[in-house]
Amino acid sequence: MKYELAPSILSFDLTALSTSVPKLMAAGAHIVHLDVMDGQFVPPITFGDALAANLRKHTDAPMEAHLMTLTPERHFDAFIKAGCKRIIFHAEATVHAHRLIQSLKSQGIEAGVAINPGTPVSVLEPIIDDIDMALVMTVNPGWGGQSFIPSTMPKIQWIRERRPEMDIQVDGGIDPVTLPQVISAGANVFVVGSYLLRAPSLEEGVQSIVSGFPSN
Ligand code: DX5
Ligand code: ZN
Repeated sequence: MKYELAPSILSFDLTALSTSVPKLMAAGAHIVHLDVMDGQFVPPITFGDALAANLRKHTDAPMEAHLMTLTPERHFDAFIKAGCKRIIFHAEATVHAHRLIQSLKSQGIEAGVAINPGTPVSVLEPIIDDIDMALVMTVNPGWGGQSFIPSTMPKIQWIRERRPEMDIQVDGGIDPVTLPQVISAGANVFVVGSYLLRAPSLEEGVQSIVSGFPSN
């Protein structure tokens, strides 16, 4: 099993990403996690595909878009064109999850499906063999810096039992204290935002997460 750190730049100074993102990658991060909020699915508005496209000029880091938007399919093409290799949409935001997964995969893009803390994991049952990644939200989406919700852990175990090799991502409240809990539940891709800014430096923040990964 590979273990990956996906830094969320949500809480970062967006005007300084051309230096902070290369720093994160050089320190050992794996994929840049872009939190896209539309002011409808979640209250805040963040940024769109232009940020991803501009970031692409400064780094060749892999990027993924976490679409916290209604009608997520409206944004697929723009984020694909901007260079995202994986797109994650919310199960709660569409009644056509299966079709949206097909649409992403037919374009060679990894399809991730996210579920909120209040959403039962059983919504993934009909699509469990179709997705490339599941994202179990460990906070309610919308804001960085919230506390980890431990009652989401059984959902990770449920998914891991059915997809032993698939990427399972967790997002929200991940730091060196909560990391062992999500690892033992079965997660292997970790979104980390505000903890990286609380650490003495970005390099030390990345190191203290990746040094907590099990050695293969
Ligand atoms: C929450 C976002 C997360 C968030 C994580 O809506 O999807 O990616 O930025 O931030 P922390 O690590 O601060 O909880
Ligand atoms: Zn996210």
